[in-house]
Amino acid sequence: MLKSLRYGALGAVLVATVLVVPGGTATAVESPDISVTNAKAHLDQFQSIATNNGGNRYTGRPGYRASADWVKAKLDTAGYATTLQSFSTSAGTSYNVIAEWPHGDANHVVMAGSHLDSVSSGPGINDNGSGSAGVLETALAYAASTQTAKNRLRFGFWGAEELGLLGSKYYVNNLPSADRDKIELYLNFDMIASPNPGYFVYDDNPAGNGARDDLVSYFTSKSVQTEFIDVQGRSDHAAFRSLGIPTAGTFSGAEGTKSSAQATKWGGTAGQAFDPCYHRSCDNISNLNLTSLDRQIDAIGHMIWNYAQKDYGTTEPPTGNNLILNPGFESGAVNWTGTSGPITNNTGRPARTGSWKAWLQGNGSTSTENIGQSVGIPASATAASLSLWIRIDTAETTGSTVYDTVKVQIVDSGTTTTLATYSNLNKNTSYVQKTLNVLAYKGKTVTVKFLGQEDSSLQTSFVIDDVALTTS
Ligand code: PHE
Ligand code: ZN
Ligand code: ZN
Ligand code: CA
Repeated sequence: MLKSLRYGALGAVLVATVLVVPGGTATAVESPDISVTNAKAHLDQFQSIATNNGGNRYTGRPGYRASADWVKAKLDTAGYATTLQSFSTSAGTSYNVIAEWPHGDANHVVMAGSHLDSVSSGPGINDNGSGSAGVLETALAYAASTQTAKNRLRFGFWGAEELGLLGSKYYVNNLPSADRDKIELYLNFDMIASPNPGYFVYDDNPAGNGARDDLVSYFTSKSVQTEFIDVQGRSDHAAFRSLGIPTAGTFSGAEGTKSSAQATKWGGTAGQAFDPCYHRSCDNISNLNLTSLDRQIDAIGHMIWNYAQKDYGTTEPPTGNNLILNPGFESGAVNWTGTSGPITNNTGRPARTGSWKAWLQGNGSTSTENIGQSVGIPASATAASLSLWIRIDTAETTGSTVYDTVKVQIVDSGTTTTLATYSNLNKNTSYVQKTLNVLAYKGKTVTVKFLGQEDSSLQTSFVIDDVALTTS
C-alpha cells in the first residue's frame, strides 16, 4: 500500500512516500526532484557526440563507443563500480555499461536500465538518449544523496538494442544463475521524452505487477493519467522477463498515433505520431518534450529511492527452531494436509535431502494440487522467514509466457495471500532456495500452502523439499 504526502521545503519539492512493508513497519522515503536541467545537459552531450561522429550513436560506430565511455566516466566519478562489457554483433563490437552502487545487500538487487544505442540514421535523442539521460541522472542523484541503500542498486546501459535487444540479452545470458536469482526487479526506460507525449506504463510483466502499480500510483499522485501498454519483446526488459524476473517500465510513445481521447488527457496533437521523428535523422536535440522528460525522470527517482529500501526479507533465514513439522517429507504426508499424492518417494524426481519430497504437478493436463501445514508464528517474533527449496523442470517453452505455476501462499483465517509465484520461467533442475518474509503474520496461526496449477498440455514438475519457517 502506498500513501503519498507532498510538501515544499526551501523551494524543493519533496515527495514523502510511506511504504508499508511486510511486518507492518513503515519506512518513509523522500524522493527528490530529479533535475531535468541536468538530464537535458546529458542529452546535449549525446547530441554533440553524434554530431562529432558522423551524426549517429549506432552500434559499431564511434558515436556509440563515445557514448558508452562518457556514461561510464560520469558513473565512475560518482563512486559507482562500473564495467564495460563488450560483445560482438553483425555491425561490430558493442558494449554494455553496468554500474553498481557498492552498498546495500547484494542478495537483493534492484536494477534500472535503458538502451544507449541509436539507429544508424540519426543521433537518437529521444530514442533513447532520453531514457539513458534519465537513468544516468537518477543514478548520479542517488550517489550524491544521503540515502543508505538497503538493497543493491545496479544500472544498465545496453548496447545494440536496435539490432534486436542484443546487449540486454548478452548481459542476462552471461549472468550466473545465482546472480539472476538475486535480481528482484528490472525497470526499463526507452523513449521518455517524445515530442507529442503519452504516459504509458508497461503491462507485460508476468512475474508480478507490483512495480507497474507503483508507477501508476506515482503518476496518479502527480495528476498524470497513464495507460497500460503491452510492449512485449520491443525493449530490453524482455530479456529479464524471460528469466522470470519482475519488470516494469514507462514509455512516451513512438510511431503510433495519438488519439483524440489521448490528446484530451495528455495535451499535444491528436492524429499525429507520439514521435514523428522516430528512427529518423530528425530525432535530434529539438525532438524532445521536456515536460515529459521532467515527469518521467521524477518517476524513475521515485522508484529507485523506494525500491532501494524495500524489504525483501532476509536471505539467511533466522536460525530459530523450524516451526514446520516433517519439513523434508521423510515421514511421508504426516503433518501435511492437501491433495493426496504430491508427497512421494517416487524416484522420477530427486529429493534434495533424503528420498521424500513434494512433487506438485507434472502430469501435463489441466489440474491443480496443493499441500499445506498450519503454523503458529510467535507474537514476539522480530524476524520470520519461510524458506523452501524448489526444483522446476518443464516441457513448456521458456520464452516469456507463464503457463504452469506453483504459488506459495499464506491462508490467514480464510484470506489467502500469494507470497510468490514460480513458473516455467523459473525452471532450474538444480534445487534453488527461496526465502520469503512472513513477519506480517506474527501472533497468528496460518496455513503455509503450496498450490500447483497446470494448463492443458506440456508438463511442469514443481518439486519442493526442506521447508523451514524460522523466527527470531
Ligand atoms: N524499443 C523501441 C526502439 O528502440 C522503442 C519502443 C519502446 C517501442 C517501448 C515500443 C515500446 O525502437
Ligand atoms: Zn529505436
Ligand atoms: Zn528505443
Ligand atoms: Ca526430503
